[in-house]
Amino acid sequence: MIRVNDNYLKLPGSYLFANIAAKARAFRQTLAVDDVISLGIGDVTQPVCDAAVAAMHDAVDELSRVESFHGYGPEQGYEFLRQAIAAGDYAPRGVKISPDEIFVSDGAKSDTGNIVDILGAGRVAVTDPVYPVYVDSNAMAGRAGDYTGTRWSGLTYLPCTEDNGFVPQLPSEKVDVVYLCFPNNPMGTVLTKDELAKWVEWAMANDVLILYDSAYEAFITNPAVPHSIFEIEGARNVAIEFRSYSKTAGFTGVRCGYAVIPDELAVEAGGRTVRLNELWKRRQCTKFNGASYISQRGAAAIYTEEGRRQTRSTIEYYLSNAAYLKGALTEMGLTAFGGTDAPYLWVKTPAGMPSWDFFDVLLRQAHLICTPGAGFGPSGEGFVRFTAFGRRESYVEAARRLKKLNI
Ligand code: MLT
Repeated sequence: MIRVNDNYLKLPGSYLFANIAAKARAFRQTLAVDDVISLGIGDVTQPVCDAAVAAMHDAVDELSRVESFHGYGPEQGYEFLRQAIAAGDYAPRGVKISPDEIFVSDGAKSDTGNIVDILGAGRVAVTDPVYPVYVDSNAMAGRAGDYTGTRWSGLTYLPCTEDNGFVPQLPSEKVDVVYLCFPNNPMGTVLTKDELAKWVEWAMANDVLILYDSAYEAFITNPAVPHSIFEIEGARNVAIEFRSYSKTAGFTGVRCGYAVIPDELAVEAGGRTVRLNELWKRRQCTKFNGASYISQRGAAAIYTEEGRRQTRSTIEYYLSNAAYLKGALTEMGLTAFGGTDAPYLWVKTPAGMPSWDFFDVLLRQAHLICTPGAGFGPSGEGFVRFTAFGRRESYVEAARRLKKLNI
């Protein structure tokens, strides 16, 4: 008899962004509307930078010749990329990471979802609102209890609200693992170095693993905001960090990212000291054949002078979109947070309207797609998220339509 993983049966109907895409598709088809502007899922619109494109062309040419062909690559990622990451992303911030502690992958979504494979039973805490991948992957692994319509009974939620400045408080109950994402998806907010240091100190004192998603670090403009959790003393003992090239370099379709698991991160298990990076390596060797040679060559090119200049200019473009949209929303009397160190705006719905209702209003009246805050967790109710990854002309048009909104 075929048996399925029952945990999947507990999941709400569909993944948040798939659900929104289906609603948008139905709207377009039913009403034959062809001017919908999507500011929902954070898919980028600026093409991959020239430096990475050239490197990927060269990589394809290499693969086309017998003498330079590459088959299966190292599961942990090619040395050339891991060295570029250590030297380019960490050393300039005074953080010493060895290339052996870096694991290249096909993106932070896969890594933050798959990491549950190497963790045992334990209480998991998530910020609320939260990137749904952390929650759903724990639910799939049977670590989230039951879904009660708005939350999972087995997870500890750390509300991030306007009242606490969208900064999560340390959990008041014992937890074993906590997911932190800063700059935050969906709220677009950040933690200062002092705020993050409190989390590291607490994790060290309470034997907690921090899963730190810094996929949006390239958007940080405030010098008081750390780009990596490893800028904090002690973090090597308690944290895993995830990074992505998706939003930094237009790699949403190329797929490449990486995780850093320091050597110090170890637990006593099975009568011995087990390093988490050993377990992750074991997992990756079995279930993953590495990101493609082509995408890794493309990623390495981001660290060249040209690559850096080109990606920087794309990030500035997105940040200027965020500033433009924030201005337009503020002008119409809405309150918007985020957008200065992150590509997301977290916007209060008018008069406390439920977020899915505001989603419908925006879609029907303005043909605009946002992401309803409730989809990110109970504390997301009353907010919607807009991304800054669109083209500038879309924001100009979105602002024009928003001004005509009847709310
Ligand atoms: C988002 O819109 O939250 C992200 O683009 C989704 C993702 O990175 O998987």
